[in-house]
Amino acid sequence: MAILEVKNVGKRFGGLQALGDVNLNVEENTVHAIIGPNGAGKSTLLNCLVGKLIPDTGSVMFDGQSVLGRKPFEINQMGISRVFQTPEIFGDLTVMENMLIPCFAKRDGAFRMHALETIANEQDIVAKAEEMLVDMNMIDKREMHAASMSRGDKRRLEIAMCLAQDPRLLLLDEPTAGMARADTNNTIDLLKRIKDERDITIAIIEHDMHVVFSLAERITVLAQGTPLVEDTPDKIKGHPKVREAYLGETQAA
Ligand SMILES: Nc1ncnc2c1ncn2[C@@H]1O[C@H](COP(=O)(O)OP(=O)(O)OP(=O)(O)O)[C@@H](O)[C@H]1O
Ligand SMILES: [Mg+2]
Repeated sequence: MAILEVKNVGKRFGGLQALGDVNLNVEENTVHAIIGPNGAGKSTLLNCLVGKLIPDTGSVMFDGQSVLGRKPFEINQMGISRVFQTPEIFGDLTVMENMLIPCFAKRDGAFRMHALETIANEQDIVAKAEEMLVDMNMIDKREMHAASMSRGDKRRLEIAMCLAQDPRLLLLDEPTAGMARADTNNTIDLLKRIKDERDITIAIIEHDMHVVFSLAERITVLAQGTPLVEDTPDKIKGHPKVREAYLGETQAA
């Protein structure tokens, strides 16, 4: 069954048709990768899935409900968590505080700045956040200010922030960008384990084909705002159209 249904989604920025007519189904409990050249429209599509952008045409349904026009915390409450291409963390706050805020917002519907001390006393939320930081090998950084973290560690923090919310659908836009290979491999292992343990669906946008072929069960190739082909990883690897779309960009596809 498709947990995410994208139908006829189009998005224009001025004279540029960033998304043409996108149709995409993401099946429940799968890892679905969306790949394609720079500027193909991958992030625009993801932003349309989480209410950050409203498409000009089409519909986006999550578990039978439209996500369009909803506020970020409403999207979280529906069970969708996301890592955007550009990190969205509070640099002045600690790693732990960044972990707690979205969990609190998801539970209570909105985040109130004055409530940080209150959140720190919410034992169930704190325990979940600590568990994720341990899983991400970041527990020793819990009091570090997020602004002083490396690019790769910021990504790892954002993934941990999402997983602590226990989402049903996890949307990741280049989650391993800037990570050392060892951290990338640990992140792949963690996502695989969580996928085995939880009722979770993952849609991942990625340029690193090592990540794509380690995780994905289904792959959609997007080119010039339109899905070019969708298939299993094995079929995608040898697909001539994929080579065309990736010419000079990756050897693995
Ligand atoms: N807010 C915006 N205003 C105008 N043009 C935009 C905006 N956002 C994206 N675009 C354009 O839309 C097209 C698709 O961009 P998008 O960021 O979705 O591509 P992408 O596939 O995610 O690329 P990359 O792999 O480089 O991240 C690009 O030509 C981009 O310049
Ligand atoms: Mg992008």
